[in-house]
Amino acid sequence: MSTPLTIALSKGRIYKDSLPLLKHAGIEPVDDPETSRKLILDTTLEDVKLVIIRTTDVPTYVQYGAADLGVAGKDVLMEHGGEGLYEPLDLKIARCRMMTAGPVDAPPLRGRLRIATKYVNSARRYFAEKGQQVEIIKLYGSMELAPLVGLADQIVDLVDTGNTLKANGLVPLEHMADISSRLIINKAAMKMKHQSVKAFIDRMAEAVARS
Ligand code: ATP
Ligand code: PRP
Repeated sequence: MSTPLTIALSKGRIYKDSLPLLKHAGIEPVDDPETSRKLILDTTLEDVKLVIIRTTDVPTYVQYGAADLGVAGKDVLMEHGGEGLYEPLDLKIARCRMMTAGPVDAPPLRGRLRIATKYVNSARRYFAEKGQQVEIIKLYGSMELAPLVGLADQIVDLVDTGNTLKANGLVPLEHMADISSRLIINKAAMKMKHQSVKAFIDRMAEAVARS
């Protein structure tokens, strides 16, 4: 590749699961973001850099072209809205479900259902489509706590094994969406750097097919 490419990734699950796919595309980071304090990582390809940012910031960096490409969970993309982005490839990593959940022995509901979540837009859309009036309370994490302390009747959160819900006396209720991570591309970069971006997408698609 000769055109410079910047790829936005978040630390943790997405970084770990993206590594084998990136390796297939010939890209290996020189530093480990879990131990390095660097936010821009060089890779084995001179023209390819990784920027390490918060999960919810990945679509924003790519939308504004601060990164050409990125990897983001569908949950994050649903909240962001996808403006300025192409989403050409399901990487099939970090798979889980977005669900509503509530206490095992919920008392009968009086008044409007209160939902605590960091997925405010997804929750609002979901309940609006069902024609159900709800009050949505924005949280930034530990949603499982909200019904236990009377902050909300139910939550909208991600569920994989169900262990987190179970450990907190909650049960999954309604399945809202299947979630996995997607490759996202800045729309201008797709045009201006078409050859390099297209080659990268193709390599990643091959890696996904083999995984
Ligand atoms: P932060 O820790 O910075 O708040 P985060 O909790 O959103 O970020 P991760 O936990 O690494 O970051 O999750 C990254 C993505 O992985 C999520 O956006 C979602 O798509 C997916 N994900 C989250 N939880 C799970 C899970 N339990 N199993 C599988 N995939 C998950
Ligand atoms: C996610 C999610 C749930 C949990 C579900 O949290 O927010 O709490 O995973 O997974 P499970 O069904 O397998 O228990 P995560 O592990 O990412 O922790 P964090 O949100 O605190 O980063």
